[in-house]
Amino acid sequence: MKPSTLLCPAFVLVALAACQPQSGNSVPDRPTLEETEQAPAPRIWDKGAMVAAADPRAVEAGLKILREGGTAIDAAIAVHTVLGLVEPQSSGIGGGAFMVYYDHEDDALTVFDGRETAPQAADENLFVIDGEVLDYVTAWQSGRSAGVPGMIALYKAAHEAEGQAEWGSLFQPAIDLAREGFEVSPRLAGLLANERLRDAVRLDEDENASAYFFPEGEPLTVGTVRDNPAYADLLQSVAASGPSAFYEGDNAQAIIDVLGQEPLPGAMTLDDLSSYSVKLRPAVCGDHETMRICSAPPPSSGAVTQNMIWGLYERITEGSSPGYSDEKLAAWVDAQRLAYADRDHYVADADFVQVPTSDLIDPRYLDARVADVFAPDGNPQAGDPGEVLGRGSIIGMWGRDLTDETPGTTHISIIDKQGNAVSMTATVESAFGNSRMVNGYLLNNELTDFSRQPTINSLPVANAPAGGKRPRSSMSPTMVFDQDGDLFMVTGSPGGNSIVAYVSKTIVGVLDWGLSAQEAINLPNVIARGPSVGVEIDVERGQDWADMLSAAGYPVEERTGENSGLHVIIVRGNGLEGGADPRREGVALALD
Ligand code: GLY
Repeated sequence: MKPSTLLCPAFVLVALAACQPQSGNSVPDRPTLEETEQAPAPRIWDKGAMVAAADPRAVEAGLKILREGGTAIDAAIAVHTVLGLVEPQSSGIGGGAFMVYYDHEDDALTVFDGRETAPQAADENLFVIDGEVLDYVTAWQSGRSAGVPGMIALYKAAHEAEGQAEWGSLFQPAIDLAREGFEVSPRLAGLLANERLRDAVRLDEDENASAYFFPEGEPLTVGTVRDNPAYADLLQSVAASGPSAFYEGDNAQAIIDVLGQEPLPGAMTLDDLSSYSVKLRPAVCGDHETMRICSAPPPSSGAVTQNMIWGLYERITEGSSPGYSDEKLAAWVDAQRLAYADRDHYVADADFVQVPTSDLIDPRYLDARVADVFAPDGNPQAGDPGEVLGRGSIIGMWGRDLTDETPGTTHISIIDKQGNAVSMTATVESAFGNSRMVNGYLLNNELTDFSRQPTINSLPVANAPAGGKRPRSSMSPTMVFDQDGDLFMVTGSPGGNSIVAYVSKTIVGVLDWGLSAQEAINLPNVIARGPSVGVEIDVERGQDWADMLSAAGYPVEERTGENSGLHVIIVRGNGLEGGADPRREGVALALD
């Protein structure tokens, strides 16, 4: 295992400076050991390549790029531009993403933060009018909910860093499919026909969205062939001219115009769009007894929560043998409750507020935090890592944020022929984003991932809106490395704030319960945020788990129609094993 290199992403200069060997200015009079050593042997990768994502057409686009020698990053761009077409309810170029990238040759991780960003004019009262906090649906469907989209800028930053294929070629599968037309999937058709959703969203009030999704007033049905020439034209421009085709000129003006419409026009400007930048951040990794878990740092809560849940679970179940037991299921619930409570309290955009990221996953904090496991019918409270680690109490800095996040998101896992990997979760936030359509894509409502209520009990909320700030995310694009430091698992999911629990299920299911990727994905979803415990009962074992947890005293909320979309790749001794969530329409396919 090479933990130090894993902490040194290739493209983050500040981190590189801290991680490279130190050398003085004097010239040595004889060769140093490093100079006489042979160059290290290239790292071998012989496990093949795989793509797992939410639609077979997107997966095929990614495989084509890999087949032609493209990298995982190249493939991710092709996969995602197709998903933006065929799965517009979940993500697209009007939204944002976190991409975790593993460079096998350099044994290095980088996170591309393409999170949507609040316009400069936004302030903590973005969702407060005349002293009243807007309800979720009103905020969601307003012009105020859209952040500056990060997706196209992320494609460019990632491609410049590690792309091999020609930039323009990455858009061709989506351009072709958008011109030919794609068959509407059952999931897309089902959402469009869903009366409850249709009552809430303004899709058929927005002129462009209405014409696209409800031709002649009726929702698109399964199997209808839907073309999208506007999307093809825009991608063609991005392929030819790069991100300026999106962030400047006609497309930028169209975004401003549509967000400026009623109800509740937004304040985004052309400057907000043209000044958008992707942030390259070090991945945050936690070392555990048998593995290392790495994921996206704040403003994502992915790395903090995945490491906290596993670290607490490991401590609660210490001494037990590997494999499933009912006691371990309860331990996982307890670990989730504590981790969610800390995340809700502390995690936000660390460029704006102090986030105790490393303290929350510090083994000494986890040793103390595990003692906070409370009665099954209790109400989880945040811990105080500052107090525990002797840095002074920090719990009183913030009020507790209970932001809702609804699930309009997608996850892509890829390993390429060189062993490089991408774990990318992309989103427009709620289903169909904020329902406003420009040039064949939907704009996001990511700013509702901020706390709409800026203060709670007179304390500021860490995740309150501010100009230029990025809202907290639950997206957990994750990679797990084994005891030798080798990549073992790539995982992630959509699902709003339940993402944390969904992704954790695959880590616990595979690493401790000994399941395959697919078996772990198929397990009932169990989400323990706040006092109740959500248990998915309409899948195998779900009712048993709900009954068992109820009998143990947990306030179980029985759930149906869960919305996870886990896409997982595991590196086994004999090759790659994939899994795709049957709750959505995706597949995991190896490169032949
Ligand atoms: N919009 C989903 C998330 O960022 O968690």
